Amino acid sequence: MNAPIISVRDLATRFGETWIHRNLNLEIVAGEMVALVGGSGSGKTTLLRQMIGLLLPTQGEIRMFDEPLFGGGVQRERALRRRFGVLFQHGALFSAFNVFDNIAFPLRELKCFDPETIHDLVMLKLEMVELLPRHALLMPAELSGGMVKRVALARALALEPELLLLDEPTAGLDPDRSDSFVRLTRMLGEELGLTVVLVTHDLDTLAALATRVAVLAEQHILAYDTIDAIMRLDHPFIRNFFHSERGQRALAHAH
Ligand SMILES: Nc1ncnc2c1ncn2[C@@H]1O[C@H](COP(=O)(O)OP(=O)(O)O)[C@@H](O)[C@H]1O
Ligand SMILES: [Mg+2]
Repeated sequence: MNAPIISVRDLATRFGETWIHRNLNLEIVAGEMVALVGGSGSGKTTLLRQMIGLLLPTQGEIRMFDEPLFGGGVQRERALRRRFGVLFQHGALFSAFNVFDNIAFPLRELKCFDPETIHDLVMLKLEMVELLPRHALLMPAELSGGMVKRVALARALALEPELLLLDEPTAGLDPDRSDSFVRLTRMLGEELGLTVVLVTHDLDTLAALATRVAVLAEQHILAYDTIDAIMRLDHPFIRNFFHSERGQRALAHAH
């Protein structure tokens, strides 16, 4: 059994009077590409934010790389932060920085690389996400949707993380751009040996990437298994999600 990269134990989340998660458990081991699926508003983004320590759960414990997310002191939290990269739902590049400076941001923050090293690392990441050296000088507003995602991916990979978290990475992309982003993510994931947690609504993305699917419904992880096993379950959310006509097409295409 591979080492647990993330373990979520008995998590509960309440916003005001509303419980979003209750008794939520999930363990993700090294090398998995886990697709987290669930209805809109079921708490997927919230769970992702909790996994990386941006939001404190109301109850429960989250460990990353077998260490608690909080309470280890600033040094240790900083060390932990280097081990994962995140691509948020809306790509969220710094709009006042060009592509180069966006990718350089996490490298500069560490204050341990000289400018030449930063330059080399940024250019390497740019190449990794299949962008050209001349793209380094573009501003985010000059980029297509697909390029924004690639730059955001390059930035997420800047510190060579072991874990990559992606929130709806292909939402809003046209099918061609979405396919090519998925192909790139899969290739990099395999090449770099990443563990990936991916929130997605998109069955094409899920079918192409996920080694396992975690279904968030009824406030907890209702099922966590391979796509095939999940599809055999009889549950309204799963029926709607996988067995719609569109879903069937995506899955037939992937197999
Ligand atoms: N910081 C917050 N304060 C209050 N309510 C929130 C907050 N963040 C999310 N919510 C609510 O929690 C629910 C789950 O949100 P979210 O995790 O974004 O869902 P999903 O990503 O699955 O669509 C939604 O009803 C949302 O409005
Ligand atoms: Mg969300």
